[in-house]
Amino acid sequence: MIVAVLGEKGGTGKTTFSTNLAGMRSASGRDVLVVDADRQGSSSYWAEAREAKGLTSVSCVQKFGDGLARAIRDMSRRYDDVVIDIASGDSREIEGALRVADMVIIPVQPSGIDVWTLGLLDDRISQAMQGNKKLTAYVVINRASTNPRDNDADDAKDAMAVCETLTITDVVVRDRVSIKRSVPAGITASEYRPLDSKAALEMTALYNLAFGENGHRNGN
Ligand SMILES: Nc1ncnc2c1ncn2[C@@H]1O[C@H](COP(=O)(O)OP(=O)(O)OP(=O)(O)O)[C@@H](O)[C@H]1O
Ligand SMILES: [Mg+2]
Repeated sequence: MIVAVLGEKGGTGKTTFSTNLAGMRSASGRDVLVVDADRQGSSSYWAEAREAKGLTSVSCVQKFGDGLARAIRDMSRRYDDVVIDIASGDSREIEGALRVADMVIIPVQPSGIDVWTLGLLDDRISQAMQGNKKLTAYVVINRASTNPRDNDADDAKDAMAVCETLTITDVVVRDRVSIKRSVPAGITASEYRPLDSKAALEMTALYNLAFGENGHRNGN
C-alpha cells in the first residue's frame, strides 16, 4: 500500500500524519518505508530519533524531483507499505506521488484560509485519477479545537462539501500537546499516551482510514 500525505499549504500536519501512520504501521509488524519528499527532512529526523529509541524501526529515504514516481514504484516492491511525506506547494513531488499512490491523505486545518486551498487540489487530483485509476483521496481535519463549544471542524466540513473529487472524512484530529511532543521524540501519539487517550484514538482513526481496521484494507 502506498499512502501519500500532501497538501498545497504548509504546516497543516503532513509530517505529523506521515510519521504517525508509519510508526503505527510498523508497530503492527509491517515493514514500512517513509519517503521523505520534503527538503526540510522532518520525517527523516523522526525516523532517526525513533531508531535511537529502539522502537519498531521505520526505514526512511529522502527523494525529490522528477524521478520520484519511479523510485517509489521500485522501492515499494521491497516494503509492505510506503508512506510519502511531501513538501507543500505546487511541486513536482506531488505530481510524482499522484502517479503511483494508492491513497492520498490531505490534512487540513479548520480555517477558511486552509479550506480555500482545497479547490486547486480537487482539480489536480481529479486529473491524476484519469491516469492512476486506483487512486483515492481523503481530507482529514487536523488541529481542530478541543473546546467543545467551538464547532470549527463541522464548519470546515460544510465549507469543503463543494469538493467533487476529494472525500471529506469524519476523522478529526484535534490540537493536542501530546501530538506536538511525540513527533520530535521519534514516537507516535499512541506510544506517547495510553492507547485509550484522545490523541491515540484520533490517530488510530487516521490509521484505520489508511490501512483498515485489521490492517488489510485494499488487499495489501
Ligand atoms: N494535531 C496536532 N496537535 C498539536 N500540534 C500539531 C498537530 N498537528 C501538527 N501539529 C504541529 O503543527 C506544526 C506543523 O505540523 P507538521 O510539521 O506536521 O506540518 P507539515 O504540513 O508537515 O509542515 P510543512 O509544510 O512545514 O512540512 C508542528 O509544530 C506540529 O507539531
Ligand atoms: Mg512537513
